Amino acid sequence: MTKNIYNKFGKDYHQQEKDPGKTFSKRFIVNPAMTFLIKDIVKNKKVLDLACGAGVFTRKLSSWGAKVVGLDISKTLIEIARNENSAIQFYIADAIKTPFKNSQFDIISSSLLVHYIKNIKLLFNEVSRMLKKRGLFIFSIRHPMTEVLKKIEINDKREYVLIPYFHNKKYTWNMLKRFETISYKCDLKKIMNSAVEDGIKGMEMVNYHHTFGNIINCLNDSGFVIERLLEPKPSKRSEKYNKKDYSRTSKYPSFCVIKARKI
Ligand SMILES: C[S@@+](CC[C@H](N)C(=O)[O-])C[C@H]1O[C@@H](n2cnc3c(N)ncnc32)[C@H](O)[C@@H]1O
Repeated sequence: MTKNIYNKFGKDYHQQEKDPGKTFSKRFIVNPAMTFLIKDIVKNKKVLDLACGAGVFTRKLSSWGAKVVGLDISKTLIEIARNENSAIQFYIADAIKTPFKNSQFDIISSSLLVHYIKNIKLLFNEVSRMLKKRGLFIFSIRHPMTEVLKKIEINDKREYVLIPYFHNKKYTWNMLKRFETISYKCDLKKIMNSAVEDGIKGMEMVNYHHTFGNIINCLNDSGFVIERLLEPKPSKRSEKYNKKDYSRTSKYPSFCVIKARKI
């Protein structure tokens, strides 16, 4: 499903990356936090950019001196990555079953993959297998709270409601339309159902909700300890690119970035 959607919409997705207003979260929240944790430690290190997409962050890793390779499940995105980064090697594969040998990498960087995976234990086991001892897994994920926080309108006024947190269900959302507003014409039960289960036409993403407890315990079970957990907010200078996104993400959690070490 994910593979197909990124194959179909991969070019639009990559095109969208050029517009700072449309990729506000990635550009001003996720990437700065990933950069903060990774930039100064990758020089001469063997690095895998797992779920590298079109290779934009892979290129940055390379520019910071990493000996980096990229992997993604989407053929369309890997074709773009190869065209735009001829010096970097890219692989098409599923992140939970990669072609790499055991203990290959010093660092595995993975931005915005984990919420695409239902069984994160399989993913974390695979990452652990590929990492050297004491290796680092640095990844960003949709904040578990943002997945259960839904924007509604009551008498034209925006409010937020919490929907159920303790589950591992899939939910869908639209990448190109991005933040849908659920109008408060229905009862709360309907809001929950539409927020967790329903989708809208277009680049409809299927993601899986993971609680903090699940993420942390699965990392531990796969041999990791968490060294750092960031809940990044946008900088003031980003406000001019998208006032609405800036206002929301300055007040409510949107993503988190975790640095975990294989012990
Ligand atoms: C939101 S994009 C992020 C791309 C890139 N990391 C970035 O920050 O620009 C999510 C990526 O995860 C990839 N992906 C999703 N499920 C995957 C899987 N099971 N194995 C490998 N890649 C996967 C998608 O193809 C897509 O490129």
